[in-house]
Amino acid sequence: MSVHTAKRRLAPADIKALKGERPIVSLTAYTTPVAKLMDQHVDFILVGDSLGMVLYGLDSTVGVTIEMMIAHGQAVMRGSSSACIVVDLPFGSYQESKEQAFRTAARILKETGCSAVKLEGGAEMAETVHFLTQRGIPVLGHVGLMPQLINTTGGYRSLGRSDREVEKIRRDAAAIEEAGAFAFVIEGTVEPLAREITETATIPTIGIGASPACDGQVLVVDDVLGIFTDFKPRFVKHFANLAPVMSEAFATYAEEVKARSFPGPEHTFQLRKG
Ligand code: KIV
Repeated sequence: MSVHTAKRRLAPADIKALKGERPIVSLTAYTTPVAKLMDQHVDFILVGDSLGMVLYGLDSTVGVTIEMMIAHGQAVMRGSSSACIVVDLPFGSYQESKEQAFRTAARILKETGCSAVKLEGGAEMAETVHFLTQRGIPVLGHVGLMPQLINTTGGYRSLGRSDREVEKIRRDAAAIEEAGAFAFVIEGTVEPLAREITETATIPTIGIGASPACDGQVLVVDDVLGIFTDFKPRFVKHFANLAPVMSEAFATYAEEVKARSFPGPEHTFQLRKG
């Protein structure tokens, strides 16, 4: 099924309809030029709150603000025309109440023009997901490892190894589907559980560190390009290795400026004679 033949931007319903048809392709993006380069290759672009770590150098996603998400959501919208755009609700902007979640999500939809929001949470967020989806806001869920909960969970480790974890992730996935999400991210979860949930769910599962059994995959763009090198989790593959390329370009620029070989005559404006 080729959903890219249509001129219009893909909608959340198109992403949902891809389940069972072919694997769903997604990446994060935060800027206009990067969104432009990936637009035709992905089904949806996630403006993830991972931007706090990869763009702003924060230790976690907890410090990300609504204003950051709006600015980067607008940038990605300007750089794309066919992918569905989903923007993350940042920590603290939706957990207090379903009304708070609606206000934040509506503001993000209005100010960016994106088609959907993503929020982290399972059974405890089901009422909120239902509230939003019943009021015109498509929601991408996010279960399994939830980076916004780092301060209570204490670390980034794969889940689904104990009966308690398995039961919780199963329950979370079912609750988010039942609440009306069009798909959900499943992060850092062992393969057998990701497979079972994918087979049981009637909406797509989008895996990150959750095995090829999922209906689709998402990765952080800086990981795919090999730009973010602070650490490399097991589930990350560098499809390019741009860090040394960038570093070499900066070093060469510095050398040429110091040697006065840049800018050369071809980069220099002169007065026209006559
Ligand atoms: O913020 C993000 O980029 C995400 C993905 C890693 C799924 O939530």
